[in-house]
Amino acid sequence: MEQQTRIEDIGKHAGEQVTVKGWLLRNTDKGRLQFLLVRDGTGFIQCVVFQKNVSPETFENARKVTQESSLIVRGTVRAEPRAPGGYELDATDVEIVQLAQDFPITPKEHGVDFLLDRRHLWLRSQRQWAIMRVRATIIRAIRGWLDGNGFLNVDTPILTPTSCEDTSTLFATDYFGEPAYLTQSGQLYSEATIMAFGRVYCFGPTFRAEKSKTRRHLTEFWMVEPEMAYADLDECMRVEEEFVSHIVQTALRERAYELELLERNTALLKNITPPFPRISYDAAVEILNKKGVEITWGDDFGAPHETAIAESFDKPVFVHHYPAKCKAFYMEVEPDRPELSKSVDLLAPEGYGEIIGGGERTASLELLEQRIREHKLPRESYEWYLDLRRYGSVPHSGFGLGLERTVAWICGLPHIRETNPFPRMLTRLYP
Ligand code: 4AD
Ligand code: MG
Repeated sequence: MEQQTRIEDIGKHAGEQVTVKGWLLRNTDKGRLQFLLVRDGTGFIQCVVFQKNVSPETFENARKVTQESSLIVRGTVRAEPRAPGGYELDATDVEIVQLAQDFPITPKEHGVDFLLDRRHLWLRSQRQWAIMRVRATIIRAIRGWLDGNGFLNVDTPILTPTSCEDTSTLFATDYFGEPAYLTQSGQLYSEATIMAFGRVYCFGPTFRAEKSKTRRHLTEFWMVEPEMAYADLDECMRVEEEFVSHIVQTALRERAYELELLERNTALLKNITPPFPRISYDAAVEILNKKGVEITWGDDFGAPHETAIAESFDKPVFVHHYPAKCKAFYMEVEPDRPELSKSVDLLAPEGYGEIIGGGERTASLELLEQRIREHKLPRESYEWYLDLRRYGSVPHSGFGLGLERTVAWICGLPHIRETNPFPRMLTRLYP
């Protein structure tokens, strides 16, 4: 096949003849001049087709090519300071690969359900392109930081016999006559692998049968879960703030163009550097009381509480020591105040809410057995997990960062649905 130049690299070819293979985003008819805005997956470029410079066939193609038709444009790269990206293509030849008829997503406004039903086509829009590129960079930054800071990637199973978080949000399936569940979190398995590898992380899709329709919940989302042997709650927070800052700064550095397309106020993100403020659950409740946001000590925070707390800070804020009763069974408790867990959530600024949940895990066999009883969990399914407290138990901590919530925050999106290429939600499994 004929070599193509990626639009992303077009600046290296100023003054040269190149071939661009892509799709038509839109065209503008100015009589003897046709402007074709072409995308190839790596970027966008305006191609200028001037009647007197091209064959009648090429000019006719430029006039008749429709939105989302596939096409090949050949021409000379010209620096154009006013063009987005800084270059234009003076076309010498326009070849239509397939003429698309009536692409359903037009430049006019469409409803969200209309767009989600056509997610397979919606992904081609400039906005979705920008979001997915930021997402990919965030994934790379996540892996890069962990790989470079002593964490070994050890993945965990997706089909599991037990719950990790809340038994009410399990997706069940049949496993050769036995019940099995889609994983809610790889944490329990990572607690096993740290005893073999020290510091690990797992990173993959996780599932929650969330019955609520909110702008922060998906039923399938990606979570990265670092876990550390010989680490306490304090160390957990220290790692989180370094990790999150690295992710934000990498996205800012490598995806400036995409964030600009999304009209993200990046000044707010530049500020995301360690250390992050740390407040206790008790102090968070005081903030809420002062602001007149209703809360009873002992209740878990919902989205309105998280937003109200985060408003007082211009960086993500750690809220630590939640009441044990509003956290999962595996949380270590504070010896002086056993009603408190050694848990910590990281709340993002600007109303994005909890992006990380984590904390210190119970190291004692007796306490863990008691917690499994209290939570009415089937003990036999957790026998292997109890082994980790029988053979060389150590203080250990870890956390889970929700990829999609992090993407929503960094991109400044009003809803989580646009952060996943094919989002799964309460009422959506298609396409
Ligand atoms: O706070 P969560 O439930 O914590 C855990 O699952 C721990 N086992 C993690 C660990 O310590 N290894 O979930 C962690 C994060 C949340 O802070 C949030 O960012 C994201 O996962 N999350 C969701 N994201 C999108 N949709 C949902 N339904 C989510 N539920 C949790
Ligand atoms: Mg949580």
